[in-house]
Amino acid sequence: MELRVEKICKSFGEKQVLKDVSFTVNPGETLAFVGTTGSGKTTIISLISRFYKPQKGEILIDDVNIQDYAMKSLRRAIGVVMQDVFLFSGDINYNIRLNEESISLPQVVEASKYVNAHHFISGLSQGYSHEVKERGATFSSGERQLLSFARAIAFNPQIMVLDEATANIDTQNELIIQDSLAKISEHRTTLIIAHRLSTIKHADGIIVLHNGRIREKGTHDELLAVDGIYRKLYELTAV
Ligand SMILES: Nc1ncnc2c1ncn2[C@@H]1O[C@H](COP(=O)(O)OP(=O)(O)O)[C@@H](O)[C@H]1O
Ligand SMILES: [Mg+2]
Repeated sequence: MELRVEKICKSFGEKQVLKDVSFTVNPGETLAFVGTTGSGKTTIISLISRFYKPQKGEILIDDVNIQDYAMKSLRRAIGVVMQDVFLFSGDINYNIRLNEESISLPQVVEASKYVNAHHFISGLSQGYSHEVKERGATFSSGERQLLSFARAIAFNPQIMVLDEATANIDTQNELIIQDSLAKISEHRTTLIIAHRLSTIKHADGIIVLHNGRIREKGTHDELLAVDGIYRKLYELTAV
């Protein structure tokens, strides 16, 4: 599926957060967003998941405006992974399949294996029946992220939208998560907000957002070749 955003503007009160933002994620490709805190990255994801409506502009999936989708079909088409993973009381199985009872336990296990979450789940006393306590506070941020990936994959959406977690993740988990992200985005239209630039070196395209506007656009190599914002961000993080 193709995801196209055309000239969206979004304000919260007087504050204009996105100004004429347009881009297309081609079917099967990965488009990454980078930009400093407050540049509007999460707002883009919230608009795509129809959490808010833009004041101007359109968001289209295969030429159909997302406002014209039934909420249920939209939820099927787009998998959303937000920075803060929301875990519920209930067991691990429930936290992955949520209320979708047509997703069987073998499918939950398969999704978990695919995103490298099976290993840590198997280590829990009750495995997939392990009860999640205190909204998952007993898990590390890396483990919570892997659970959210398993949840997203279990629903097998055609478009995946991800806000990469910023929380500190140790090097071991970081490698696992990089591998999971690569698998999630494989052959799937993917929009990812990346906080670690290492995540997006292989993206088909990268967009640099600054104060709600698109400032630079290109591949990793193309953007490094320009002496701009991306290059500065890269030099700051790649110490
Ligand atoms: N619900 C909201 N109400 C008011 N202001 C908001 C809301 N959501 C985001 N903002 C503001 O919009 C700007 C962009 O936020 P956000 O999209 O979260 O940026 P990023 O994800 O790039 O850090 C920030 O200045 C933020 O304070
Ligand atoms: Mg954000």
